[in-house]
Amino acid sequence: MAKPILVANWKNHPNSLSETMVLLREIAKSAKLYKKLSLFVAPPFTYFESVSERLGNFGQLASQNISSLSPGNYTGQVTPDILKSFGTKLSIIGHSERRGFGETSEHIAKKIKTALHCSIIPLVCIGEMSRDPDGEYFEFLRDELKSSLAGLNPKTDISKLMLAYEPVWAIGKHAQDAITPANLSQSVIFIKKVLTDMFNRVVAEHVPILYGGSVEPANIGPLFSETGIKGFLVGHASLNAKSLKAIAESLISK
Ligand code: 13P
Repeated sequence: MAKPILVANWKNHPNSLSETMVLLREIAKSAKLYKKLSLFVAPPFTYFESVSERLGNFGQLASQNISSLSPGNYTGQVTPDILKSFGTKLSIIGHSERRGFGETSEHIAKKIKTALHCSIIPLVCIGEMSRDPDGEYFEFLRDELKSSLAGLNPKTDISKLMLAYEPVWAIGKHAQDAITPANLSQSVIFIKKVLTDMFNRVVAEHVPILYGGSVEPANIGPLFSETGIKGFLVGHASLNAKSLKAIAESLISK
């Protein structure tokens, strides 16, 4: 069976390089544990070198975004060739916090193609803003998925990407506010149905679906064992070495 996937999205944290080094030292103490998973760490760009050096052979570098710009001069941008040169293996694409800055599904579809072209795994984020009793958010989810994956080839492209289901309403809270395993299972089934309609059944079964949104040691167990999820995209809990370790332990105990 494939190893569980754990992606640490550090967003714009820690606040300094020295704090980052302390966190990395703590995380590295559990290197043996992390080797049992597919661990990716997505730090701010400024910490790339330190993180890639210290992850050694127990984790891989990821980026929180990828630019779809072709070669040229772009002040303030980090281009895919720079990401590659640091050994970036995965890019989070279409995170709701980036969609909040105006990134559209068209941009995201372009970025997915850029990542695939550079042999970087696209981790494509989708998720509804809120839930309504009539289940209209499923329509939102379908549209977001369809427009983000538009133009991809089921044979050559889709087999290389991962999806992260991150309902926006569940981000940045605590375990008790996160999605329930039953609701997560429903969303996973729905996403697979849309993938089947868009591509085919084989694709739907093959694409790893991760969950993100207030994942903590307290809720990871049932969210993993009862839902068909292949791994997690973790925000705040990944900035605490103890929580990250507890999350990893739960993943390998299933
Ligand atoms: P939290 O785990 O802090 O809710 O963040 C989730 C997230 O946005 C990961 O990409």
